[in-house]
Amino acid sequence: MSPSELQQFLEIATEAALAGGAVLEQFWGKLTQIEEKGRPGDLVTEADKAAEAAILSVLKRHLPASHAILAEESGQAGDISSPCLWAIDPLDGTTNYAHQYPFFAVSIGLLIEGKPSLGVVYNPVHQDLFRAAAGLGATLNRRPIRVSTTAALADSLLVTGFAYDRRETLDNNYAEFCHFTHLTQGVRRGGSASVDLAYIACGRLDGYWERGLSPWDMAAGVVLVEEAGGSVSAYDGTPFDIWSGRILATNGCIHGIMRDTLGKIQPLPQFAPKAAG
Ligand code: IPD
Ligand code: CA
Ligand code: CA
Repeated sequence: MSPSELQQFLEIATEAALAGGAVLEQFWGKLTQIEEKGRPGDLVTEADKAAEAAILSVLKRHLPASHAILAEESGQAGDISSPCLWAIDPLDGTTNYAHQYPFFAVSIGLLIEGKPSLGVVYNPVHQDLFRAAAGLGATLNRRPIRVSTTAALADSLLVTGFAYDRRETLDNNYAEFCHFTHLTQGVRRGGSASVDLAYIACGRLDGYWERGLSPWDMAAGVVLVEEAGGSVSAYDGTPFDIWSGRILATNGCIHGIMRDTLGKIQPLPQFAPKAAG
């Protein structure tokens, strides 16, 4: 895709993200429907659904029919194996939003031939609009951003998250959280994967790892980190796979040490899921 086509799609994604963000502002502090989707703690509200409808209405108005969409609340539209697949999270950070903790975003990413190539992450409360596209750089409110230059784990501020299946698996990320908390200036649990990635991109945070994610949580943020000069991979440093659910994203300087550390950590047996019956 040419840079000018990519720029055009970035403008469309921005219009959609702002439309979704406006809906989230309308419902902010006024929710009446908060439901669990399946697993304990996995919430959906009327704001998630209305924001997604607003985003899809903008995208469907502008995008070619050949583009497919994968959106968290409404699922798939079009052929998911299409070379252009949009991955949309209308409200990334629903738990935060439901508690009026102002750390959440609309996340809109475009995968081209499977590669995250364009992303917009928008937090309407903070009015932070993060945008990036492959080869075009990354910006926050239209100003260029770069990852941090923190080179030592001991000087780093990290972020992670815990998937909704954490009570059902020993692979719950608790051991990793303890380990990195011990080795760094701190580990935040932001509650919005797309914002966590955007904060790596602009240097507010130095490293991020998480498991149990969906493509719509990561698609946009990965482009932000890469275009801001950071590194994105699997936990073991091999190429990132958006369908794997796992990500290691850093400023680049601490990537190797985080990869090596993740490779050595053993789970905490006291948090193993209880056997049924
Ligand atoms: C969640 C957030 C959270 C992460 C979860 C995600 P949601 O998305 O990104 O930070 O830890 O795994 O599912 O459910 O608020 O859209
Ligand atoms: Ca999400
Ligand atoms: Ca969501």
